[in-house]
Amino acid sequence: MWYNQDMAEKDTVTPASKILTNPDGSGVNRAYIDIMLQDDTPVLCVNRGTQKKRLMPFKVMYGNNTNFWEKGGDWEYYFMGEDLAKVKEKAVTKTGAWDSIPVKKKPWEKEEHSSPQGFGDDYTAIAALSAAEKIQYLNNNKQKLNTLLAQKNKDKEVVTEALVDTTRDAAIINHAVLEEAMRMGDDEAKKTTQDLVDTTHEMIKSSTQLFSEDVFNNELMNTLVQKSNGTIVQHMTRVYLNGIAFLSYYNNLVSSSSAINKIRVSFNTKYRNYYRTLLSHMPIEDVILERIFYGGMRAITPDLFFNWAVGFLIHDIGKASAVQYHEGEAAYDRSIVIEHVKQGYTSIMNKTNYPREASLITGYHHEYYGDPEGYGYFRAYLESYRKANPNVKQDYCISYELAPILDFHALAYFPAKVLEIIDVYDSVTDPHRVYRKALTPEQAITMMREEFIDKRLKVDPILFDIFAAFIKEKHK
Ligand SMILES: [Fe+2]
Ligand SMILES: [Fe+2]
Repeated sequence: MWYNQDMAEKDTVTPASKILTNPDGSGVNRAYIDIMLQDDTPVLCVNRGTQKKRLMPFKVMYGNNTNFWEKGGDWEYYFMGEDLAKVKEKAVTKTGAWDSIPVKKKPWEKEEHSSPQGFGDDYTAIAALSAAEKIQYLNNNKQKLNTLLAQKNKDKEVVTEALVDTTRDAAIINHAVLEEAMRMGDDEAKKTTQDLVDTTHEMIKSSTQLFSEDVFNNELMNTLVQKSNGTIVQHMTRVYLNGIAFLSYYNNLVSSSSAINKIRVSFNTKYRNYYRTLLSHMPIEDVILERIFYGGMRAITPDLFFNWAVGFLIHDIGKASAVQYHEGEAAYDRSIVIEHVKQGYTSIMNKTNYPREASLITGYHHEYYGDPEGYGYFRAYLESYRKANPNVKQDYCISYELAPILDFHALAYFPAKVLEIIDVYDSVTDPHRVYRKALTPEQAITMMREEFIDKRLKVDPILFDIFAAFIKEKHK
């Protein structure tokens, strides 16, 4: 007999219903069922009354009833840890891309959106590696960056290539591992993703250091565009690199007090009208630059810089493949698109030990100052806070730190406001857009100013002006 009582006792077990039925009840996990039928995975049957256990071949159980795990009655059904690990491993190796493993059917996983093409061939190859191999891959990439860091005379082309490639690989690996982690309980997931978090941190440390050596120039911008293949992974790569380049530019700019003074001097004529609608409870003369940036406009500390870079890299981790995320495009489906923010936020918050900053950036990067065309968690939290505290007003627009945004003292979170701008800019200048021609940098800036500031205030006007200056300088 192939059943051994001790085997079940010492092993960790998972309820079959948790593995085979999607949590929202929308269907069964076909990929796992096929593998279990092929391998004849043992099912641990436990009698509710007597607690008697026996192992049965999956094929037999399934042959009797194609959803035996859902019926109540005298028995409960489980899979054992090692057996389940084998099935999961096989599912990843067999199918490669994360979205072709329909373990948990997400609202956006309609058939027409399930093609792995949205991620590209790079994704399929890297996602097919085992968990340990993925970490090794990230480690090798980090090593590659460190070797470049140690070189005295760097070849800019080589550095550029390495930055683009290692960022892309990190985005892919994070996407693939987090998708796996979403099927686990929170504690197990956090343990499982710890290596990923640590190695990604190390890689980002090397990558941001290489970056600070003034490699962000026209050449890198061009390489980014050339390497673009229209995939979500490439979008995340570009947003990360553009994001840290912009933060460096911003830091350089505001470290001179004359730049901030210039903004302060032009504030009343140039910006006050935009902000008075956001701070409408305040007398107009109180709407000053110090009200826009909580604690005053200032440079970003290295710690915040680093945590925000993590957020930029993984900000669209909740995206499904081949979904059109940009308004106006033929296949755009708002209800599907909104989900990517929720999925990303909860997976980073609950399934990893990534810094809190990263989950807030992910969850709040389409808020658009509460404009109805934006979406995300923050507006809902703010609304319920306002209901519970009708006399408390938000006296600041943008917070650099976590506390004022978590305590609802500010209306927006600095890195999320930065990301909104970079995200839109990237999507409209992407040369591989499916439904519309890409805009030139100048056209993109003009369009964004009209659509995202003047018509409706969505992105931040001061940060946008700094961004426009940054783009102008980088495309000189
Ligand atoms: Fe997004
Ligand atoms: Fe994005």
